[in-house]
Amino acid sequence: MERVKLFDKTFKTFIPNEEIEKAIDNVAEKVNADFRGCTDIPILLCVLNGSIMFTAELMKRLEFNCELVSIKLTSYCGTESTGKVRQAMGLTAGIKGRRVIIVEDIVDSGNTILELQKILADHGAAASYICTMLLKPESCRKDLHPDYVAMEIPNDFIVGFGLDYNEIGRNLKDIYVLDPEA
Ligand code: IMP
Ligand code: MG
Repeated sequence: MERVKLFDKTFKTFIPNEEIEKAIDNVAEKVNADFRGCTDIPILLCVLNGSIMFTAELMKRLEFNCELVSIKLTSYCGTESTGKVRQAMGLTAGIKGRRVIIVEDIVDSGNTILELQKILADHGAAASYICTMLLKPESCRKDLHPDYVAMEIPNDFIVGFGLDYNEIGRNLKDIYVLDPEA
């Protein structure tokens, strides 16, 4: 098992890249099954920064015309959610009357998605769907049901494949979990 040190914390391999890619194949197939042949041009909304790698991998596999729009939201400080969602950068294009597929790295408490759904409604989206690479079912609010989930994980802090610890670790190609023994 490989270990990496990021600032004061040690992380160990949790989900190897091949497994992540397979899970993305499967979730992309589900999105394709629902959107293939559509006559509109759905928007893929990349929630920066965490979702950048997942969005790229998902997009490569989609078999319908889609438009990429980004937004930047932040809520984490260190390994904990602050509970407040801040919009660090607004929507990069208009979404009025469009179907929007929210592409998230991870749904934890669900606060970010809830805030996002409000933003999308305010901007006149026709409909929104949630596609997340990871879901922490134990910590997620029960009234939230993501439409597409690539992988479910326990309520532990993870990094890699776009996810960070105080902005580092995003470039790791595998996903790592905090090692409490180290
Ligand atoms: P939520 O608002 O609690 O659902 O948290 C969602 C956001 O917090 C995600 O989009 C991530 O950017 C970040 N986040 C949640 N859990 C983790 C984690 O385990 N590692 C790194 N970032 C996380
Ligand atoms: Mg995120």
